[in-house]
Amino acid sequence: MPQLIPFLKKDEIAEMVAAVAQRLSSDYKDSEFVVIGVLKGAFMFVSDLVRGLTIPVEVDFVRVSSYGDAASSSGTIRMTKELELDIKGKDVLIVEDIIDTGLTLDYIVNYVKSFSPKSVRICALLDKRERRMSDVPVDYACCIVEKGFLVGYGLDYAEKYRNLPEIYDLKF
Ligand code: PRP
Repeated sequence: MPQLIPFLKKDEIAEMVAAVAQRLSSDYKDSEFVVIGVLKGAFMFVSDLVRGLTIPVEVDFVRVSSYGDAASSSGTIRMTKELELDIKGKDVLIVEDIIDTGLTLDYIVNYVKSFSPKSVRICALLDKRERRMSDVPVDYACCIVEKGFLVGYGLDYAEKYRNLPEIYDLKF
């Protein structure tokens, strides 16, 4: 059985989310602000993040799948749910739970840009740099992580552990 090693507690996550929500509320004041969450992993982060905003926001989701049930990227990216909102001329923030190789984000940034938004920035709860293969800029990183296989707060391993309110490092 894999072991769950505590990595981030509930209140540590809440503090990070509140801090980034405050920054975003200031940076996107007076703009047509759209948050695009990347399913499934970001569902919990997006819901807490938008509740912390003090400015108007539109929320949409895309779903991209690359990992299947494996613990490392298959390298194949598929878009399984498209954007629904009209984002032309708007200020878009792509919200990810975790950025690892950066390949998923690269794909999503190009996809989002094809709809001619005014700006595109990236916000990630966890910016894991150990295996980065793309130099896509992470504009708002809540927590920089060197390594580990993190689960909980939306992040899964083989679809398990997403429901946990805290983040753990899974040791195999
Ligand atoms: C995870 C995570 C990111 C991506 C990051 O999603 O939510 O979208 O992997 O990895 P990368 O930087 O190496 O591309 P996953 O494909 O596991 O799907 P999920 O969000 O449904 O769990």
